[in-house]
Amino acid sequence: STSTDDLDLVIIGGGPGGYVAAIKAAQLGLKTACVEKRGALGGTCSNVGCIPSKAMLHNSHLYHQTLHDLKSRGIEVDSVKLNLPAMLKAKNDAVSGLTKGVEYLFKKNGVAYHKGAGKFLGPHELEVAGLDGTTSTLKAKNFLIATGSVATGFPGIEVDEKQIVTSTGALELEQVPKKMVVIGAGVIGLELGSVWQRLGAEVTVVEYQGAVGAGMDSEMAKAFQRSLSKQGFKFKMNTKVLGTEKLADGRVAVKVEAAKGGNPETLDADVVLVSIGRKPYSEGLGLENVGIKVDERGRIPIDSEFRTSVPHIRSIGDVTYGAMLAHKAEEEGVAAAELINGGYGHVNYDTIPSVIYTHPEVAWCGKSEDEVKKSGIAYNVGQFPFRANARARTNGDTEGMVKMIADKETDRILGVHIMGPNAGEMIAEAVLAMEYGASSEDISRTVHAHPTLAEALKEAALATHGQPIQI
Ligand code: FAD
Ligand code: NAI
Repeated sequence: STSTDDLDLVIIGGGPGGYVAAIKAAQLGLKTACVEKRGALGGTCSNVGCIPSKAMLHNSHLYHQTLHDLKSRGIEVDSVKLNLPAMLKAKNDAVSGLTKGVEYLFKKNGVAYHKGAGKFLGPHELEVAGLDGTTSTLKAKNFLIATGSVATGFPGIEVDEKQIVTSTGALELEQVPKKMVVIGAGVIGLELGSVWQRLGAEVTVVEYQGAVGAGMDSEMAKAFQRSLSKQGFKFKMNTKVLGTEKLADGRVAVKVEAAKGGNPETLDADVVLVSIGRKPYSEGLGLENVGIKVDERGRIPIDSEFRTSVPHIRSIGDVTYGAMLAHKAEEEGVAAAELINGGYGHVNYDTIPSVIYTHPEVAWCGKSEDEVKKSGIAYNVGQFPFRANARARTNGDTEGMVKMIADKETDRILGVHIMGPNAGEMIAEAVLAMEYGASSEDISRTVHAHPTLAEALKEAALATHGQPIQI
């Protein structure tokens, strides 16, 4: 057993929150160690989340496009074949390249990497049960808990990650299922449902609420659902799942009924994806040994400087409050490192973008129109459809629109919602504008290169004053 008692900071969890905090802290001159039990850095995001899902989304889109969209563009391909093992390998290569990249960044910045599970023994002591079987103790002045989240289970449905899967199993299926039932029309259900639908599965999404997208602007949610339906998705909205039964022939029966009760129905599936949300993860961390209590939703309570009830132990990312997004965890990681170093750290929670990486993509920042309406603020809305955008037309990819919401009195941008090709890249401009407190007029007076999709944002800004040029 070894002991290091002169560490400034020990971070538990090597995901986007933890690893970014570790690098930032080391750059600020803090003697920093990061404990990760997965055997690889990068957390949920790099290993079983953002990265593998985007690899599968990108390549399944290319496959689908080759099958259904190239001919009209004057490209004729004789035979198109899916090689699923090769597609999965490309995904795995992206993952291992990036997780090794984080390991390199730790070395470069002088962060000590401990492979093992961390558990608090006391307020300044963390036991590390090493993956190699050894046990050691780390002592430090400060700790940062960044242990992330795991998939929420569905009561009574047992996940085996083969037939009944969470996102983790859905990123590894060895065959394209004929029929896939997705429980939950949130981000995971729609992204991974898209992957398998493009590769040939018949996908039915069962959603308890009346809208897709787990709380996105309701007008965009309707447009998005229409678009996915056109692609072949079947939706059972306002519907609850009663349970699943594995059948002798290897398939799964999914029993559903209307959310209000009645209309029972059995759906047939080869694979069922359970994607009803994620929950904070702090099991085995020994929180009881330091007197930290999680809240009713399993989150670690923190103050505005990320301090838990034990002031030198802070927490960031999915395991605490807020959106469960990699870039949110990263920003908190940087801010926490700065605060631990005695400096100033800040995250602007009003400008955290959300992106759903389907085709078309959906991206937004700030408030939805529903939220603005509810708050009682007088506002203007400007909309611009991609079918009126020159670049979208030349690309033959015109579905979707940009919607901008601005304060009627001050013209300050309150929210931007984009559904369309490259929405995830385009939202960055809106985020920057909002970070700088821009008005919609600021965007409409900014030069945008022609022909680009970004011109649709400028036109939406002009439309908030009722004066778009191109429509
Ligand atoms: P995590 O990434 O969960 O990392 C926590 C780490 O802590 C884990 O590696 C875990 O092994 C480790 N750990 C836990 N307990 C201990 C312990 N006691 N000792 C040592 N180590 C421990 N977000 C986006 O922004 N964009 C996306 O496109 C996106 N796509 C996603 C797709 C999927 C399928 C999923 C599941 C999630 C996706 N997310 C996406 C969400 C994103 O992955 C999370 O918000 C992000 O990973 C949270 O970062 P974190 O550092 O808080 O926690
Ligand atoms: P989610 O919260 O996005 O969506 C869950 C959906 O399931 C909601 O629409 C909800 O109404 C529905 N639901 C809940 N209980 C249900 C039930 N019993 N029956 C039927 N429907 C039910 O959660 P999801 O999709 O699991 O993703 C978890 C989180 O991971 C996301 O919230 C997001 O933070 C993160 N993520 C982010 C991605 C991105 O940024 N592109 C991609 C994937 C995940």
